[in-house]
Amino acid sequence: MKRRRAFSGIQPTGNLHIGNYLGAIRQWVALQVEFESIFCVVDLHAITVPQDPRVLKGKIRETAGILFASGIDPKTVFVQSHICAHAELAWILNCNIPMGWLNRMTQFKEKSQRQRERVMAGLFDYPALMAADILLYETDIVPVGEDQKQHVELARDVAQVFNATYGLTFKIPEPLIPEAGARIMGLDDPGKKMSKSEDRPGHAIYLLDPPDAIRAKIMHATTDSLRDVRFEESRPGIYNLLVIYEAFSGLSRPDIEARFEGRGYADFKRELAEVVIAGLNPLQSRYQEVTADPAFLDSQLAEGGNRVRPLAEKALRLAKERMGLG
Ligand code: AMP
Ligand code: TRP
Repeated sequence: MKRRRAFSGIQPTGNLHIGNYLGAIRQWVALQVEFESIFCVVDLHAITVPQDPRVLKGKIRETAGILFASGIDPKTVFVQSHICAHAELAWILNCNIPMGWLNRMTQFKEKSQRQRERVMAGLFDYPALMAADILLYETDIVPVGEDQKQHVELARDVAQVFNATYGLTFKIPEPLIPEAGARIMGLDDPGKKMSKSEDRPGHAIYLLDPPDAIRAKIMHATTDSLRDVRFEESRPGIYNLLVIYEAFSGLSRPDIEARFEGRGYADFKRELAEVVIAGLNPLQSRYQEVTADPAFLDSQLAEGGNRVRPLAEKALRLAKERMGLG
């Protein structure tokens, strides 16, 4: 029986952090068992905001290296700009997406506020490209965080309208949102999601952070003036640290609370740092291995692209045919 297909994308910008790992990458690794998976490093999405060309090239490889090191099968990873069909289908979908749909996208509203001086057309159109990514591969499910659900719904909507107008062309994808609890908050501000776009030094634990940096960040993490180590959502700082402990240790909440009974925050933080360091250690050493030979990494990405290109080209050909192009 044919396995159902999962497709997801990750932007090669900023530094990947433990929120990305626990909320996305770790889920993807597990999904590979059940689903035939395809993962895309979405460099065309990255350029919807200004990027330094030299940094971007390096980040594409770093992102792929982190995926490989996390246990994603390198055969299933490719770079978006290696496959022309993404940009081409995005244009076609553009001509089938009403402006009103794009106007409702909350991520555009947030990102355009941050970029106030120069908001490019590509940022507004970001969801059309994301819909193209998904629809090129007969995708069944799209594992993403809650923040991307609206974009996946737009992809469904445009596929449905296209099919109704021009005849059956695209499979209708479903978003797959991980269970709650995978949302990791900023260490310096537990009221806000840990984010790649914040650059304050104590905000995030990056996946490639050395042990001493992890220790320092955790010891400085914002908590409160109480002292008992308990899972209480009304105390967001310590709650977030406990969620991180839970995710990396695999222990249950009652076991964790029992373990730290009568011990203060400093003790807990010291132990948390060691749990995170140990949890990231396999990924970090694998990362060194998989990126040791840059030419080999590049050849893996080229092969990943070659493997999926026929699927993308077939879907694009059908869409063009249906619309009477060419
Ligand atoms: P981004 O960093 O926004 O490009 O997100 C990449 C993936 O990681 C998406 O699936 C997000 O939902 C997920 N993600 C990002 N930040 C967090 C976080 N703080 N906690 C959990 N998941 C996250
Ligand atoms: N927009 C997604 C994010 O920022 C990344 C992405 C691009 C994506 N294309 C995709 C995710 C297709 C899933 C499917 O996280």
